[in-house]
Amino acid sequence: MIKNLFYFSFVFILTISSASLAMKFEKENESKIFTPKLATFHTSRPQETQKFIDCAFDSRKIYTFSGWGTYNGSEFGYGLMHLDEIKILKQIIQDHPERKDFYILDIGAGNFAFSYGLAKMINKDNAISSDIKIHLYGVRAEGGTGLGDTQDISEFIGNKCVLHNLGLFKTENLFESLKERNINLKNKFDFIVSRWSFVHFVDPIGTLEQAYDLLIPQSGIILMDSFRLLLQDDPTNESPKNLLNMWNFLESLKVPYIASLSGVQYNSHAGLNFMIKRPHNQTISISMSYINSYRDFKKDKDYTRLVTQYVMPHQFFEELPNEFMNHNNHIDVYGDKSLFEWVAKNHSNWITNEKERTLTTYYYRGPINK
Ligand SMILES: C[S@@+](CC[C@H](N)C(=O)[O-])C[C@H]1O[C@@H](n2cnc3c(N)ncnc32)[C@H](O)[C@@H]1O
Repeated sequence: MIKNLFYFSFVFILTISSASLAMKFEKENESKIFTPKLATFHTSRPQETQKFIDCAFDSRKIYTFSGWGTYNGSEFGYGLMHLDEIKILKQIIQDHPERKDFYILDIGAGNFAFSYGLAKMINKDNAISSDIKIHLYGVRAEGGTGLGDTQDISEFIGNKCVLHNLGLFKTENLFESLKERNINLKNKFDFIVSRWSFVHFVDPIGTLEQAYDLLIPQSGIILMDSFRLLLQDDPTNESPKNLLNMWNFLESLKVPYIASLSGVQYNSHAGLNFMIKRPHNQTISISMSYINSYRDFKKDKDYTRLVTQYVMPHQFFEELPNEFMNHNNHIDVYGDKSLFEWVAKNHSNWITNEKERTLTTYYYRGPINK
């Protein structure tokens, strides 16, 4: 009798524990399969940072046009990394014969001249078939673009392009600003550009994290210039320290990137141009953390005075490559080999001259097409 009781209790305990183990396993697996990884870095923003973001936005939103001097978008393209945006677009279209709709976003669009200019070129270009539709989005803090409280306007330009100019757009709260407008653009964009804008943002890294989520997985690219990247040990960093910080930041992202000096603005915080690709459907993993934001009283026209300091846990490079800094009639491009080759396919002035460097990077040098 006692033996039987012992036997039954043993079987009972075994059944319960294996059932709970199975449930635990199922739950873990379920969360692996069904919980999408969220872009969470920007959600850990200190309150002070968000306060400054609101404050920077409020100071721009009173304008009904973008009065940033010469930087208001260019009809002839931004020329970041000396690249021709229309050639990049054609490459993207060529890579996706299964699609008819393509999406481009300009972050910090000035007076939207970039999208208007690109639309004109697209419509004129017979190599871009007339059944292709290009959706061009531009976002900016200023209002005055047309309709209602959000100051948005959408219009057809020729028969291949639809332009969406979004004004009063708080770019640093990218997800929230899109949600407010009931537009879902996550995983949508083939090509995001941004020139001379992140340098004005209070939290450029939190903004970049969100922008990356708008890229179409597997192939979406961002082409932009650098920003002021303040780390824990350099509260008043100067170029070229900023370039080195940017470089280390790009390496820390663990996604394909290529970078080069911008050529015209290399002694400013926007002095690095880079392209990053979203090679998979994961969000980007930011290994940094926020320290806080403060008002920097240094007089420098290149950035707003509200800045954020971050912790970068790991340094990949201690100095910038010599050749990188001393270009004369050529530009050195460093970074991911296949991304470089993808760009080089359509830019004959991008010549490979490879020397192996440390870690995952390669070294290229190509003459500038002047
Ligand atoms: C100097 S303009 C650059 C315009 C254009 N990308 C170019 O390179 O010619 C800066 C752009 O960033 C946008 N911007 C600056 N601070 C912003 C903020 N806090 N929130 C949203 N947009 C902002 C402005 O609205 C403007 O479109």
